[in-house]
Amino acid sequence: MPITPIEPSGTDGAATPDYQEVSTPVLVVGAGAAGVRTAIELAENGVKPLVIGKRAHGDAHTTWAAGGINAALGSLDPEDDWTIHAADTFREGHFVNDPDAVELVARNAPARILELDEWGAGFDRTDDGKINQRYFGAQSFRRTCFVGDRTGEAILSALVAHARELGVPYRDDVMITRLLSDGRRVHGAAGYDMDDGGFVLFESPRVVLAAGGYAALYNRHTSEADENTGDGPALACDAGANLLDAEFVQFHPTGMVAREEWDDDWDGQLVTEAVRGEGGRLYNARGERFMERYSPTRMELDARDVVARSIAREIREGRGTERGGVHLDISHRDRAFIEERLPRMYERFADLGVDIAEEPMEIAPTAHYSMGGVDVDPRTGRTSVDGLYAVGETSSGLHGANRLGGNSLAETVALGQLVGDHLAETIDEADPTLDGAESALPDGMRAAAEREFEALVALEGADGDTAPAELVAALGDLLWERAGLLRDAEGLEAGLGALDDLRGRLSDLRVEGGRTGRDFEFAVDLAFMFAVAEAILRSAAFRTESRGAHFRTDFPDEDDDWRVNVVLARGDDGMDLRTRPVGTPSEEVREALDEGYELDYHHLE
Ligand code: FUM
Repeated sequence: MPITPIEPSGTDGAATPDYQEVSTPVLVVGAGAAGVRTAIELAENGVKPLVIGKRAHGDAHTTWAAGGINAALGSLDPEDDWTIHAADTFREGHFVNDPDAVELVARNAPARILELDEWGAGFDRTDDGKINQRYFGAQSFRRTCFVGDRTGEAILSALVAHARELGVPYRDDVMITRLLSDGRRVHGAAGYDMDDGGFVLFESPRVVLAAGGYAALYNRHTSEADENTGDGPALACDAGANLLDAEFVQFHPTGMVAREEWDDDWDGQLVTEAVRGEGGRLYNARGERFMERYSPTRMELDARDVVARSIAREIREGRGTERGGVHLDISHRDRAFIEERLPRMYERFADLGVDIAEEPMEIAPTAHYSMGGVDVDPRTGRTSVDGLYAVGETSSGLHGANRLGGNSLAETVALGQLVGDHLAETIDEADPTLDGAESALPDGMRAAAEREFEALVALEGADGDTAPAELVAALGDLLWERAGLLRDAEGLEAGLGALDDLRGRLSDLRVEGGRTGRDFEFAVDLAFMFAVAEAILRSAAFRTESRGAHFRTDFPDEDDDWRVNVVLARGDDGMDLRTRPVGTPSEEVREALDEGYELDYHHLE
């Protein structure tokens, strides 16, 4: 699946542009929690990687992860342990999770939380000084550690501060547009500086993709416009790596429903699961607490896919609000409690004129997270391409068909540490790239980078009639309609046809504002987005069953024969799909599964 080469009108074969060359032993693409934690581990083991991010250091999608991070600390529920965390992760992932990934994260998370606390994350405490833990959906015990509802921000700040102390080199405002790969080995990456427009050739024998997922391809989503646009999976696949389970996209049950009078576009932005974890209740427009019908035991804290589909059904069947949402109400809690536990939600809604201590919020499902991603060995982050690694949301395996809230932050630090540790072990003291000296690029790789820079110059000069943002929006509508909460064969087929039509318009782009402008960035994003959109549609059409977040109305049941992963590889004629058997959980985890632990909702009543 090559990243669709965009061949805009006006290409005139100009001379190779100038570019800067940077050499590093490890290039970490992405500066959220997964990338920074990987880099910290490398630095602590004597290797200085270069971390690059699309925005300023400390500003990454991690900051939007709100409600918490899972680790079986047992602060409030001492019965909890890592095997039960693993069992919950499997059950809610509908048993297509990678058992190694699940076990590594569940075992490693407690140590990583304590370390983050030491580095200054400032987790909220119980009265007796333990790290406090709240309920999150579909978890048997209170396991989600938090910093109010700004957990991701606090964690990333602590990680960035620690990385700075260790002197980890960082470069902001850089976008990677292509990896330098011969299909078997990666040798670096080509990109541009979003601040001054200059091209950069990164020479590195090891590239770690920690560049997020692809939920922002959907028109209603919880990410910022320049995040989660599929960069990591598309770059990896173009370089020759495989994708796994691209059909599994998580729709968070509670995204904001914007009012016409609000200035900014808040539509789809996250209303944290912590609202429900602290007792928030869902009501339809008739005032019915409808989760009693769909999930009388777990109520609002059932798994995200269940709650999201229940809300969508209420809306579809005419019991939603006029703006197309339902109500989420926490006003039965004291104001002081809400201000303490949910400060960001309280302030944001107050600024918008909604006092959530007095009135409900209006919400509806929104695309939030991609469980699918690059196929890796979770212990090392290795892909099938030598020298290419992936970690965090860019990768796949831990979450199966449906992610537990709080497990994404846990994954970033638990697996980031392991990937960094593995990489450090592969580099010996005599490695010539350790001191940043230029490494010899093999034949063809420099030429590949120069071709990429020439293509980017041509893209900058695109003078057709279609604004990149227009295609981004059209693609978002297409995916929401054809590969959203409910899917079927006919819709997915139609989606692929519509995607081809949209692809035809790529040659008619108009890019204004030069290489540092938003148009150019969106135009570059489109190459990633089209590649990943096709992967989602094809994988969703291939999996003829319903499982977790992937709901096929024409195959509404889970099918044991489909308890497999879907592997997508770049083929000669496009994308090749096949199934792969899933592994078996360890005996300890199977015992925890057999115990049948269950969330006890009465704590919240
Ligand atoms: O709802 C939330 O606070 C999201 C957390 C997560 O996705 O892990």
